[in-house]
Amino acid sequence: MTSPILVTGGTGTLGRLVVPLLREAGQDVRVLSRGRHQPGSNAAHVTGDLLTGAGVEAAVAGAETVLHLAGGPKGDDEATRNLVRAASRAGVRHLVYISVIGADRVPLSWLRSKLDAERAIADSGLPWTTLRAAQFHDLTLTMMEKMAKLPVIPVPGGLRLQPVDARDVAARLAELTLDKPAGLVPDLAGPRVYGMAELARGYLRARGKRRPMLPVRMPGKAGRAYRAGENLTLDGADVGARTWEDFLAERVQPAR
Ligand SMILES: NC(=O)c1ccc[n+]([C@@H]2O[C@H](COP(=O)([O-])OP(=O)(O)OC[C@H]3O[C@@H](n4cnc5c(N)ncnc54)[C@H](OP(=O)(O)O)[C@@H]3O)[C@@H](O)[C@H]2O)c1
Repeated sequence: MTSPILVTGGTGTLGRLVVPLLREAGQDVRVLSRGRHQPGSNAAHVTGDLLTGAGVEAAVAGAETVLHLAGGPKGDDEATRNLVRAASRAGVRHLVYISVIGADRVPLSWLRSKLDAERAIADSGLPWTTLRAAQFHDLTLTMMEKMAKLPVIPVPGGLRLQPVDARDVAARLAELTLDKPAGLVPDLAGPRVYGMAELARGYLRARGKRRPMLPVRMPGKAGRAYRAGENLTLDGADVGARTWEDFLAERVQPAR
């Protein structure tokens, strides 16, 4: 009998895409989440909370590989430390983590917690693989939907994104999970770099909407880091196949 792969956050945007790929590859999969999202796959589901530690030891028991995707706006460092402790006790042989491009360069607290989570993985003493990905198209779409509800769209000057399709990230993570531990692998970014105005124009065109745009300045150190492109990987990244325009064509209908 093969041991199951534990996927934390297997019910999230990314997790729902990775779990079926692992299942298609013939793997047993166990999904850990708090149970706030509907299970979306024919994998085994266990309930636990990585922030409190409840249920984590039972979830890890017997798993040789752990793919850690669970995340939220804060606490990813603490959640990851709890997972690492349980994984060490259970003798896990491969710990795979998804982080964010710029975690080591952009001074924002949630990115700092991603970096601390990366360090907890790298310092765990367990064999590991970490992939840093760019912002997913899904999150870019959520941002655009919110901004387009305003009468005027604020456009932070100099802010660029390199959005990537979560399906491309899922495919890469499935490969990495089934391969040998590789440490920090090349970043995965989207096929193009866009200014915020260009992303917003693409969205508005797809929705058949019009909105005036207002240039704004992102303040502080984080603003400086974004203007310097610290959230981008322009050289040496692996590049996903699907563009923002491909994603919009699939997901966004013109407003009636
Ligand atoms: N979205 C992006 O643009 C992006 C870009 C690069 C990297 N990432 C990283 O990719 C990962 C997945 O992102 P996503 O967009 O798929 O997130 P998501 O859709 O918000 O899903 C988060 C998942 O984590 C689970 N979860 C959250 N807190 C938990 C906790 N305390 N204990 C156990 N499970 C918990 C959630 O399930 P329940 O709510 O049911 O517990 C859910 O399955 C995150 O680590 C994120 O930082 C995201």
